[in-house]
Amino acid sequence: MNAYNQLLLQNKAWVSQKTMEDPDFFTRLSKIQKPKFLWIGCSDSRVPANEITGTDPGEIFVHRNIANMVIHTDMNMLSVLDYAVNVLEVDHVIVCGHYGCGGVLAAMGQKQIGIIDNWIRHIKDVYRTYQDELESITDQKQRENRFVELNVMEQVYDLSKTSIIQNAWQKRGKPFIHGWVYSLETGLIKDLDVTFKDNSELPAFYKFVAPAAK
Ligand code: CO
Repeated sequence: MNAYNQLLLQNKAWVSQKTMEDPDFFTRLSKIQKPKFLWIGCSDSRVPANEITGTDPGEIFVHRNIANMVIHTDMNMLSVLDYAVNVLEVDHVIVCGHYGCGGVLAAMGQKQIGIIDNWIRHIKDVYRTYQDELESITDQKQRENRFVELNVMEQVYDLSKTSIIQNAWQKRGKPFIHGWVYSLETGLIKDLDVTFKDNSELPAFYKFVAPAAK
């Protein structure tokens, strides 16, 4: 029970600290939410969006799942994306993976874990797409790291294929979509430089024609 009670005590301490630094902090935040970023990250407890980017509450709208996946039938992800892009009007969507991701490593293996195997299937499908490149890397650690990066890039592509993102690009030329990978060992983020801001790089069959103006 101690560790649990500790959380509530730490919450009180955090409120005191924040209020001391900025007496209006909570009043201001309670009135408006206007983050510039949507974060799609891994559920891994070691990759908290705000903490690793040095940001405060109110600055990043966050969605996390196992291995930072963008599955286009996932209503949870689609709802977060639609709200962030069309209501909050974020300028940037960041897919942030991390080296040593358990979900990505599991996708390279053959072990059954449970219901999560069905989620990990999506990551296995990414492996299949890049199988030749990945299997040409002989060092296991390097292969794992590359797979983490390719999985992030694939999620960036998958975001760009959604009608939500393509319609927003058509309407307001935003958001920019980025792929990042965080290192658990150094704490540093690597920008994969795969920023998308329009659908020009997508194969034609993924490109939507803008709906007729009403
Ligand atoms: Co992970």
